[in-house]
Amino acid sequence: MPSADPHASARQASSEPGSWGHASAWAGTNIALVKYWGKRPGSMNLPAAGSLSLTLADLGTRTSVRFLSKAVSPDRPDEIWLNGAPADPAFARRTSLFLDRVRSLAGIDHAAHVVTENTIPTAAGLASSASGFAALATAASRAAGLALSPPELSRLARQGSGSAARSIFGGFVEMAAGTAESGEDAVAHQVLPPESWDLRLVVALTAKGAKAIGSTEAMTHTAATSPFFAAWIESVDHDLADARDALSKRDFGRLGRITERSCLRMHASAMASDPGILYWNPVTVAAIHELRALRSRGVGVYFTIDAGPHVKALCEAENAATVAQALASIPGVLETLIAHPGPGVSVIEQSMGATA
Ligand code: DP6
Repeated sequence: MPSADPHASARQASSEPGSWGHASAWAGTNIALVKYWGKRPGSMNLPAAGSLSLTLADLGTRTSVRFLSKAVSPDRPDEIWLNGAPADPAFARRTSLFLDRVRSLAGIDHAAHVVTENTIPTAAGLASSASGFAALATAASRAAGLALSPPELSRLARQGSGSAARSIFGGFVEMAAGTAESGEDAVAHQVLPPESWDLRLVVALTAKGAKAIGSTEAMTHTAATSPFFAAWIESVDHDLADARDALSKRDFGRLGRITERSCLRMHASAMASDPGILYWNPVTVAAIHELRALRSRGVGVYFTIDAGPHVKALCEAENAATVAQALASIPGVLETLIAHPGPGVSVIEQSMGATA
């Protein structure tokens, strides 16, 4: 059984013999309004185009990292816990590879004990790598004794997952594609703080379980086989400029139209792969039609969909309840939730000190 506070083990152990440094961080996930879908070559996880997102207050990840006095080795691997249980091998491997980057940055070789909890609803299947790697980058770098600035954390988080670079910041956030091979300029920054525009993202869960194909593999497959990929990448700069302008003018209808077209173009490029990638299920399509019908009746609402079947509806605060009700009434929608703009990553606690 998971304990009431799974982070307690990591926290207590920081004062126990064998502990070297400990920190916990919380990060909200983010939903892209102008999507990231495609990478530049290299080992630094560099995006092929920029993106723009909204960080959420309601859904996120809390991660505790405790570095032990012992060196990491095949006999003493990192211990990775996810949602109250030992993490599956794929998650554990991706986390350890990321910890290797932090260890190399800090010049240490300590094995780590990592406890991660996603505050994302039961049915899940919602992107958690954005908040996950933002929280991990922050907790691990602090536990390793590093004091990184937000842009430095954003670059580090990007190496775990491209979308995570954006969750370092709150509110509306733009990620730059950059041109440097080092990834120096592939970094996010805040465009507008969360309190500057009272929008909501209403999330409708349309299926249980993990997505069929992960975003990393799917975007690589799209780039390699989709005749629409080049056109998709070419379209992003214009959408970004348009979105920046819509944000500065608080022009909701314009931001909504950009959001829908970026989503549809991203999915169109993936669908045109060989074999094609189709994330949607019948409930996803029903939700799209319902939201467009609602819009034709005068409710300002626009959809976006990520690498999965769930639908996220962007609306102004005053329409959130109406939108949530309309989505909840669709047969097959399992759960709806109204998410608010949220802050960037925060350090919850930190302690250093070798106890031998
Ligand atoms: C559809 O950030 O998960 O959510 O860098 O390979 O980890 P990796 O990809 P990831 O891709 C996110 C794709 C998306 C769109 C977006 O968030 O911009």
